Order: sequence, then C-alpha cells, then structure tokens
Amino acid sequence: MKFLGYFTIAMASVVSSAVAADAAPCVVPAPQKMTVGEGFCANPEVTKKTAKDVRSEGYRLEVSKDGIVVEASDDAGFFYAEETLKQLRGADGKIPCCKIDDWPVYSWRGVHIDDCRHFFGRQTVKQVLDLMAMHKMNRLHWHLTEDQAWRLSIPGYPELVKYGAVRSASPSHGVWPTDPKRLKPTDLDGQKYGPFYYTEADVREIVAYAAERHVVIVPEIELPGHVYAALAAYPEFACRPENLAGREPRLVWGIEQDVLCLGNDKAIRFMEDVLDYVCRIFPGDVVHIGGDECPQVRWKECPKCRARIEKEGLGDEHGLQPWITRHFVKFLADRGKRTLGWDEYLLGDIPRSAIGMNWRESRSGAGHELVSGAAAALRGHDVVMTPCSYCYLDYGQGLRNDPFQYIGGKVTLERCYSFDPRAGLTGAAREHILGGQCNNWSEYTWNEYDLAWKMWPRTSALAEALWTAPAKRDYADFLSRMAVHRERLLKLGVNAAPLPPVK
Ligand code: ACM
Ligand code: ZN
Repeated sequence: MKFLGYFTIAMASVVSSAVAADAAPCVVPAPQKMTVGEGFCANPEVTKKTAKDVRSEGYRLEVSKDGIVVEASDDAGFFYAEETLKQLRGADGKIPCCKIDDWPVYSWRGVHIDDCRHFFGRQTVKQVLDLMAMHKMNRLHWHLTEDQAWRLSIPGYPELVKYGAVRSASPSHGVWPTDPKRLKPTDLDGQKYGPFYYTEADVREIVAYAAERHVVIVPEIELPGHVYAALAAYPEFACRPENLAGREPRLVWGIEQDVLCLGNDKAIRFMEDVLDYVCRIFPGDVVHIGGDECPQVRWKECPKCRARIEKEGLGDEHGLQPWITRHFVKFLADRGKRTLGWDEYLLGDIPRSAIGMNWRESRSGAGHELVSGAAAALRGHDVVMTPCSYCYLDYGQGLRNDPFQYIGGKVTLERCYSFDPRAGLTGAAREHILGGQCNNWSEYTWNEYDLAWKMWPRTSALAEALWTAPAKRDYADFLSRMAVHRERLLKLGVNAAPLPPVK
C-alpha cells in the first residue's frame, strides 16, 4: 500500500506509537484545531497536496472513511502531518476520521544537550532527534565545548581532543546516585573519563540524521569564558599559561577565572579557525558562541589584554567581551550565519542581528521572570527564551523518591507546561521572541537513562508550550493525553519519569 510505504520510510527510527482503538485520539503537542468524526479510515492511502495558504511548518489533515488528504506548503508541514498520523493510529492500525488544522506558534522549538560534563555519543543524540521529531521540535542546540571537555576534533589543532576530551576523574562519576545527598560536587571518583569526542564524519552523520527529521543543529562553541579544556590543550591562549600547566580540563564544575586571552592575536585566530570550520561542517543558519559567566579578573591583570583595551579604546576590561562579540558576529555573518549567545553576551553595544538566549531571571516579582530576555527583545534583538525556572531540566522535577541527582532548583511538569515565552511583552517586542527550548546541563546527568528521565515527560510539556496556542492549552487535558503518550515513550525504550498524580 502506498500509505504504508510512505509511513515506513518516515518511521525509520521511531516505531509506531499505537494507542488503543477505543481511546480518544491523543496527539502531543495538541493540534491547534481538531474535530473528530464518526468511524475509521478504511483506505489509509495518503494524498499529498501543496497548499500555499498553509503556514510554514503547518499542515491540514483530513482523515475520512475513503482516504487521507494532507495539505502543506513546505516539507516540514508534510513531515509533521506524518508525525500526527503516527499518534492518531490505533493499536489495531485504525485511524479515526478527523479534521486537523495545525501550525506552530513559535519557529524555535529547541532542545539543548550538554555533551561536555558528561558525554552521550551518537546513538543518544540520534534518539533525542527521533523524540524531537515526534514532538515537532526543530532545533538541537549542541553544547560541544566547556571547561570540562572539548568534544569536536578540529583540523590543525590536534591537542584539543588529545588533552581536552579526556579527564583523569570527574565529580562522583560512575557512582549511581542512590543517595545523592551523600555526594558533594568536589568528590572526585578517580576514574579516567574519555577520550570522548566527535569527528567530522560523526557530525556529518548527525547533521544528516537531523535534517531528515526537520531538525537544524545549532553548534555551540563557548567563548571567551568556559574554555578551560581548550586552554588545557593550548595554554598559550590563556592570560596566565602557568595556570594550565597540568594540561587537563577542569575536573570540578563551576565558573573558571582562566578564560581566553583577548590580547593575544593567536588566541583569536584559534577561535576564528574553529568557527570557520564549524560554519563549514554545520549547514544550519545559526552558530552559538556561548558568552555566559565570563569573569574579567585575568583580563584586568594581563599586559596583553590591557594593551588591547588601550589600542581599541575599550575603556577597561568590561569593554573586551562586547569587542570580541562584535568581532564574531561579523565573522559569522561573513559566512552566512547568525550569531546566538547566552544573554550576558548582549551587554554592551552589540549589533541587533545577534540573537540572545535568555537563561537568567530577575527575582523582581511575578510576571517579570523573563526580564533579561524581554529587555533584549525591547532593544530589538531576536531572543530564544530558556529561563531556568521553566526550561532547566537539570533542576528537580518534584517527584517523590526520585533516584536521580539534580543540580538544584525545581521545575515541575506543570511549571514547564505553563511556560509562555512572550509573557509580559506587548507589540513589536513579542515578534522578537523566536521561541524557547529546554536546557539539559549534564553535571549530574551521567548517561542516556538519567538524561531521558529528566527530559521526559517535561520536554513533552515544553513542546506543547512552544507549538500550541496558549488559549488551546489545558494542563488537565495534557495530563490525560500524557498518560497514553508516556506509554508510547516507554515502548520506544525511553526511560521517561512518571507523571505526577492528578490533583
Ligand atoms: C548557563 O546556564 N550558564 C547558560
Ligand atoms: Zn590576556
């Protein structure tokens, strides 16, 4: 049958997510408009029609007794219609008659993974991509460099992975956290970790796999802070090379004072070479350059950095980060890419073409949690909202007897579901909010099992918050659909956490 052939190709890696034939159709994220008719489709043949009036990534789907018609204006729309059809299909293969008109509210529906503090590898990244496709998510923000590791081989810089992709110990690594409170971040396990990194062939494989699922990979190369692993490989790129004499990434998590020496032309040339290569192997339109948590104490003391401040008229050490950000925004624009960075990198005079990724939150009161991202949007920057208290899945999920370890905080499923990236914004600033994403920092996430536990079902809630219009969202309805949807995840071998009890 034509339909089955079509379906099988699309299902190459995610097996059918069947539901009981008598259950109400259960689609996550919820479609914008859906009406369910009588009976089931007797002829599962799909007719595809291009319809210019359907929004980008959207689709119209009509399942009748005699067949299935899908209309979309782009490939992503046809792809998402298939994903919906998989979820509509009952355990007996029957698809209920229905009409759906669906499109995403936000164009950026992202997932971030930190492959540095702990390394997940190709298979786990692919599984994340499969699940993103199932949830109609379209940006994988891949955090590839950190103080604790450098995970990408770069031609001409062999020491990066020789020294930067391996460490002699990790905090508590390998200890299954049956009693998380017993573990302190500074308890080193003495177990060699690595070398773990991705080659160009790995990247090309993952980029292609993502593209088949309409996911764009957004690589992140951190600068000018969070570069300790690179400095361990090339100590001469630090203001104080003697601090890196051990040639080892930082073993414990935190904010390092040793950052890129911005007075050293060779250090800047190194980052240019890295980013030039990244632009060539990642075809996506956006490159993330980090920019968070960069102390300036070394720059203040460093003769080279002081000479740079003087020569460029930057005032003092505070002028250095905006200077390097401007440099790389232009460098990346010359290569056809937009620059993305954590919200700190927008401080100073930064071109409006730079996109902010908001993670910090003001504590100034209800409704103002998103203030730094909101401020950037009001200044005219596009912004991806990832505020910690909604989007950080390394925060606890509020489950009783949770066996896994978290960095702190609390982000419940309901909190994720209530995420509104445009909260508190009016007028043109709303249009600058591209969307949001969940951030999966991995200091306390060891492997695919606890990654999955922390991601699901909270990422299902965030996926719905980013796809479905606020007026259509209903947490109680989501929870009842999630009861079915979680079973689909479990059948796929995903170690999804339990749902909280219905209140
Ligand atoms: C961050 O969480 N430091 C972006
Ligand atoms: Zn310096």
